[in-house]
Amino acid sequence: MDLRLTGRHALVCGASQGIGRATAFELAELGASVTLLSRSAEALKALAAELPGGQPGQNHRYVAVDMLDTDALARAVAEVVGDHAVHILVNNSGGPPGGPVWSAEPEAFLAAYRQHVIAAQVVTQACLPGMRQAHYGRIVNVISTSVKEPIHNLGVSNTVRAATAGWAKTLSAEVAAEGITVNNILPGYTRTSRLESLVDASVKAGRSRDEVERGLLASVPAGRFGDPAEVAALIAFLASPAAGYINGTSIAVDGGRTRSLN
Ligand SMILES: NC(=O)c1ccc[n+]([C@@H]2O[C@H](COP(=O)([O-])OP(=O)(O)OC[C@H]3O[C@@H](n4cnc5c(N)ncnc54)[C@H](OP(=O)(O)O)[C@@H]3O)[C@@H](O)[C@H]2O)c1
Repeated sequence: MDLRLTGRHALVCGASQGIGRATAFELAELGASVTLLSRSAEALKALAAELPGGQPGQNHRYVAVDMLDTDALARAVAEVVGDHAVHILVNNSGGPPGGPVWSAEPEAFLAAYRQHVIAAQVVTQACLPGMRQAHYGRIVNVISTSVKEPIHNLGVSNTVRAATAGWAKTLSAEVAAEGITVNNILPGYTRTSRLESLVDASVKAGRSRDEVERGLLASVPAGRFGDPAEVAALIAFLASPAAGYINGTSIAVDGGRTRSLN
């Protein structure tokens, strides 16, 4: 099985922590040069220095930009691809705040749409010419199991994730013949600060941490939370030459939590 990414350049969005950070490690381990993107310049600088290296031409970089600022994002990514074509793109960012959908403000939907759908569109548009030229492209979108089963109390997120899934499926068919694949990863409950903040919100509402975590785990057949590295492993596989015929799919990494058949 060919998992080698030597000579490939990966752009990982939302890379300073959690699933993005773990993904950067996996891709670098397979030989890719990685450009890290998020808002925290200091964290990204430290991470770029920590990533595995040593393959021919392997070089890690970072770019600090807010994905909510579409113009700044477009400028930043234009610079990244101007230096070195991107072959592997991981579209990932922080999850929208929780809450019921009925009370969500219009601005919350607009912000989440900008941060997820518009950001993915802008970054992807910048990366596509290089992928086309190399006849090698891997676009992996980190979204959520909510595209199969909407999650209680994540109203804005459920709405915007579905839009991302529709965008990705459409794109996957448009670029498939050019050696480019587009797939979605649907993480289940994964031990990151995103999960901690969702647990904290329930703790503030008066429940104990243990009670909240046991409540979440009751729906997970594996009986535990996932590790970001377990999500990153699938992203790295989808980025590899071995995964060239996997396209337009949404794959859950959730310990068996999603109950639907497709
Ligand atoms: N963890 C879970 O259990 C779980 C389950 C289902 C879905 N997901 C989804 O999977 C994705 C990744 O999750 P995670 O748990 O790894 O999240 P996380 O630990 O909160 O990390 C989010 C990353 O996105 C970056 N980010 C946030 N807002 C940004 C912005 N405006 N511009 C640029 N970068 C931004 C953050 O870096 P900076 O702060 O440096 O910008 C960070 O690196 C999220 O969309 C999350 O909702 C997670």
